[in-house]
Order: sequence, then C-alpha cells, then structure tokens
Amino acid sequence: MRKLFVILFTAITALSAIADDAGIIPQPASWCVAPGSIRVPEKVTIATTDKHLCDAASVAALQMRTLGIDCKLSSPDKAFVRLSLDKGLSAEQYRIRVQPDGVKISSGDAAGAFYALHSLKQMILNSQTGVLSCGEMTDKPRFEYRGIMLDVSRYFIPMEEVKRVIDVASQLKISKLHLHLTDDNGWRMEIKRYPLLTDVGAWRVARNEIFPGRMNPLPGEKATEGGFYTHNELKDMVKYAAERFIDVIPEIEMPAHSIAALAAYPNLACPIVDKFIGVLPGIGGKNASIVFCAGNDDTFTFIENVLDEVLEVFPSEYIHIGGDEASKEHWNQCPLCQKRIADEHLADSEELQGYFMDRINRYLQSKGRKSIGWDEVSYGKPKEDIVVFGWQGMGTNAVDFASKCGRRFVMTPARKLYLIRYQGPQWFEPLTYFGDNTLSDVYSYEPVQADWSAAVEQLLWGVQASLWTEFCHSPEDVEYLLFPRLIAFADMAWRGKGTADWHSFEHRLDNYLPQLEKLGVTYARSMYNLYHKAKGADGSVKVDLSCIRDDVDTRFTADGSEPVASSPLFTESITIAHGTTLKAATFRAGKRCGEVLTLNFGINSASGCQITSESSNNGLEYVLTNGLRGSNRNSDSEWVGWHNRTAEFTVDLGCVKPISSIALGSLANSTLCVAAPAVVSAYVSNDNKVFSLLKSVAVDKEARFSINPRILDIDFGKINASARYVKFVAVNSGCIPEGYAREGAPTWLYFDEIIIN
Ligand code: ACM
Ligand code: ZN
Repeated sequence: MRKLFVILFTAITALSAIADDAGIIPQPASWCVAPGSIRVPEKVTIATTDKHLCDAASVAALQMRTLGIDCKLSSPDKAFVRLSLDKGLSAEQYRIRVQPDGVKISSGDAAGAFYALHSLKQMILNSQTGVLSCGEMTDKPRFEYRGIMLDVSRYFIPMEEVKRVIDVASQLKISKLHLHLTDDNGWRMEIKRYPLLTDVGAWRVARNEIFPGRMNPLPGEKATEGGFYTHNELKDMVKYAAERFIDVIPEIEMPAHSIAALAAYPNLACPIVDKFIGVLPGIGGKNASIVFCAGNDDTFTFIENVLDEVLEVFPSEYIHIGGDEASKEHWNQCPLCQKRIADEHLADSEELQGYFMDRINRYLQSKGRKSIGWDEVSYGKPKEDIVVFGWQGMGTNAVDFASKCGRRFVMTPARKLYLIRYQGPQWFEPLTYFGDNTLSDVYSYEPVQADWSAAVEQLLWGVQASLWTEFCHSPEDVEYLLFPRLIAFADMAWRGKGTADWHSFEHRLDNYLPQLEKLGVTYARSMYNLYHKAKGADGSVKVDLSCIRDDVDTRFTADGSEPVASSPLFTESITIAHGTTLKAATFRAGKRCGEVLTLNFGINSASGCQITSESSNNGLEYVLTNGLRGSNRNSDSEWVGWHNRTAEFTVDLGCVKPISSIALGSLANSTLCVAAPAVVSAYVSNDNKVFSLLKSVAVDKEARFSINPRILDIDFGKINASARYVKFVAVNSGCIPEGYAREGAPTWLYFDEIIIN
C-alpha cells in the first residue's frame, strides 16, 4: 500500500511538474490546469477600457501579428481576451484565467498586462490543435532589474538592429537595456555642444586583423569605420523601448575607456600625455592607459555638459558612469592630479577616482538622477550612493561593497553572464576571448550564494546579460552571441529562486525557437555540439563525449565515416589504443542535431603516459599525452598553459624504451599574448632523479611572436637514446616586443602534445 502511494505520488508530482511550466518562457510562478478548454478563434480580439492597458495591448498585438497570430483590439462585448487592472497585484504581476468563455487577464500595471499577453501568445503558438486548456496562471518576476547590455562602441550596432533586439527582449520580459555608448573604440551619441565627439570620436581606422591584433592609428591616418546615433534616433529608440516596457540606461564611460572622447578633445587628458591620441581600432596597448585628467576642472565641465544632453535624451532614473579598468599610471605622475589629491586630502590615485565618481554622481543627483558604476568604483571608497555592477570574476567585489556600504547592486559576472564568451565547444565557434559561458551555464546561474546574509540578498536589484562586441561585424554576429542564451537568461532573471529545471527548459526552448525563426533572428545551435575529454590511462587513451542537451543521442564511428542515426550509440568511455579517427555527433528523432566532432588520434610512445609537472595555470597537463592535437585556439581545452614563466614537465614512458624522435607541439599567437618558447631542452633519465641533457632547441624570434595563430612543432630531430623519463624545460619568450599590437604584455606558453617515437 505504502509502495503504491509512493508510486502514485511520484507520478502525480511528475505530471504536475510538466504542467506547471505551461511550456512557456520565462517559466511562470504557477500554472494550474482546470477542467475544460477553449478554441482560439481565427481572429484573436483583445479588449480593455483602461488607456494604459490599451497601449500595452496594441504593442503586444502588433508583436503577435508578426508571429502569425491574427490579433487586434476590439470592444469588450465579444473579445476573446479581456484585460483589467487589479490593485491587489504588484507592479509587473499578472493573472491569466483561461475559461470556456474567454481569457481574463488582470494585472498590477500595464507592464503586467503586456507580459500576460506574451505568456498567452506562447500558449496559443504552442497549442497544436488551436485549443487551450482551461486553467489559471499567476506570475511575477523574481528581479525588477532584468537587463541586457549592448556594447555599441566596439561594434556600432545599426539602430534598426538595436530596436530588433529590444523587440525580441521585451517579449522575453527583459526590463532594462544598458547601452554602452562610449569607449576607446568609438563615441556613439551626438553631443551638440561638442561636435568633435562624433566628427572625430565616432570614427576609427579600418584594420583587418582580429580586434586584439589591431595596431593603433597613426597621426593623419584616415578613420573610416564607425558611426553614431543622433538625438532624434536615440529619443525614438527610448520611446520604442518604453512602449515595450524596457527602460534604457545610457552609459558614458569615465575616467577610463574614454580614448574616443580624448581623441576629439586631447586637452582633457593629463598634460603629461604628449603622444598622439586616436580612436582605437583594438585594445590599444599602452594607449589604453590614457584617461581623463582628474586634476583639470575642464574635465568636469565637459562631462557635465555632455551629461546635460544625455539627460535630455534619456529619461531613465539611472545613468551608468562606467568607472572600470582605470589605469592610474598618468594620474600618479600628473601635477594637476597630484595637486587634486593633496587639496582634497585623498590618500592616493585610487581615492582620486572615488572623488571623480562622487563629483559626477553629485551632479547627476542635482538633476534628479542616480548613478551606476562597474564594481571597480568601490576601490575609491565613494561617499555618494551608487549602484554597483559586479562583473569581475563572479562579481564578489560588488557583493562585498554592497554589504559593507548598504548599496544596491546588480550581478553581471563575466564568468556567467558575459555573452562574448564561447557558448559551446570552441572548435565549432567563431573566435572570441576567454572560456565558455554555455546556454546551461547562463540558465543555471544562481546569483545568491549560500554565504550571503538576508540583508545582502535584499540589496540585489537584479541580473544583467552583457554583450561586448569586439568580435562582431554584423547584426547576425550580435544575434548569434545573444541567442539562444538571452532566452536562458530571461528565464533565470524571472523565475522563482530555486526553481531551475534544465529538462523543463529544454522543452520550453524547443517551443520557443520557432518564434526566433519566424522573426528571422539568427541563433546558435552550439547546445547540440559535443564536448570531448580524452585522457591517458595505463598506456591507452579514454575518450568521453558530452553535450549540454540531455535529450539527444550521441552516435560515433571509428572508421572515418560520417556518423548517422544508426551508428553505434555512445554510452561509456571509448578506449583508443591505436591511431584512429573518431567521429561523433548528436541525434534526435533520427536527425543529426549538431556538428560532427572529428578526433584524429595519433597514438605514440608517450600516449596515455603519466605526466608530472610544476602546476600549469589551466590544469590541463593530461592533454600532453592524450594523442590529440589542439586547434589554433589556445583555449580549446587541448592546450596546457603556463603564464609568464618557465614550464617544466616530465613524461613517464612506463619502462625504458628506445627513442628515435621527439617533438613537442607549441603555439604562437602574439595577438592573444601566446608566444612559442624561446628555447626548449629535453632531458632523459631512467630513475626520474638523474637527468642528462639530450638536446636544446631554440625557436626563431619571428615565429615565436607570430601574429597569425601558428602551431609550431619543436622537433628535436633524430635521436638515438633509450630512457623511461623525458623531461622538458621550456623557457618563456618574455614580453611581446615593440612593433606588435600587444607590445609589452607578458606571454603564455602553451603545449598540446608530446610526440615520442
Ligand atoms: C568590464 O568588463 N570592463 C566592465
Ligand atoms: Zn591629470
């Protein structure tokens, strides 16, 4: 009996878990199915007597029509959907009652009605038969701040595309658009009082290299790339967003990330800066340390005048004033900045930044506005109230500051919510920076950590997905990085704490993607691609394959043929003993979902053998003997890296073996601060104690700092030896030399494979 009860209970819970999410995104707080159903009429009519709800309904109806629902506003008597306000509901909260005689929506405000219509829209689109089950949905967001950031400086996103993103984001119930309008790479807002900001600051020289490999402009070089938005275009966009319940928060960067402004008005940099300042096409090297002079009152007059126009265009309560990554190099030497430090009794240049941000913050307060800054603003101990955006690492800086000073904060940690990062196995992705933030990383992100107090949790305003655009060249590139991760983000920002359910999300996402297709929005299918881990064990190599989608089959071949739906199913690690090409892909319902992963195993005497080393920086020593070569991406998980130091590692061949050749795979890509070693020495030993030098090989300097990624096999030539242990000592090439885009930056050493025969 007890067993039967448990089975019944489990079955009921499973059923209600499926019913609860209503198949829509974001996941609603509750959806309870009731008896009965209603057929959706061919013409969906919406009625309300409230003017604000009417405006919200008109826009939602327009959006529904673009998705193929014939929908319009009508008089209340015959309407399929009736909207009304309910004072008992909070802002953004709504209730939908699907009844046999129609759909009743009540909401706390117009935003709630808008969101309810988008929930209903999805239920209509999901209903295969055109019949809705009766039931009641009650819903409200977890966070008020559900933000997306678009960096329009690195890539000048055409206004049409900004609006398109706003339109799609609004349907995902995103509530804020943070517009990163200014940076070193372009000033994007017309400022009537300072025309050079756009005549000069909006344009940079064209360079063909990837962003970090671009050399700084020379005086007189023609700047042809860029653009800017006029006041009218921005006002129109703000109105468009407001109609969709998105508040646009402009960001004007200071004191750093301001090269575009300083290219236009170089007198606002510290007077000790005597070199040419041009809008940067890339990272900028040493030029990126040029910032506004904090000792010059003209700087503050200029920024205040700029902000006057920003406030005229953007009605939002909050203005983002940047504050991140400000080098103190020039402030430490500038007589004006040093005088300011003395006059204001500040401890150092860090506190000078606190003074800078406070002074601008007070100006904004005097105009009835509030300030937001990146988490570095906390270093300068600002006295004024400022909302902090936690971005570094896991955003803990913001949490520390907020808890100490009682400030509101928003979490946009780079390691979870920066959409510039790779969204899937890197071999299949366009080049970008850093590691991975997959769809499932974004979906499963929980900002509130176990060690936060209730008071700190109260200060969390919300979350933001931030899109930096260094590697974007077209609207399609922007959409590829945004989607589908923005869908996962929207779900996370809205749903109740502790209600994440990846499996539910997978099926709701599958419901949602046809909407993107109807709108022609580009999205990534990276979620279907396979990760691999090939690791040596006892002289052989074991391969594991995994996919973030858990509702697909992984099938593989080992004969070089393309995997098909009838190929063997991957269920457990595969052991590779000889040179083999393994091909694998994911399948569902007989169709291939993702790209074909090809692993060419080159098994040699070192394959599967034990490695000992002084710890690397990324902990991937095992790749040296896994029989697989890396791609030309140092972060593809097939390269072990040591930063700014000598690398030393030893392979244990298991027993004394004859050795006729040795090679070590290394990488050169100075653009990403990767340099091949200056020299590598190979030593041999039979007891792992006494080693004798076999040979040292030096690498040509040009090759070491190659601008284009280059795999360099360091070949020790013909060897006539026998040994059990082979030790490698690789000397770092030091900082990137003059004449390269990353001049002066310390370098990484990366190795992918030891090849011993
Ligand atoms: C930032 O990523 N520098 C805010
Ligand atoms: Zn100065």
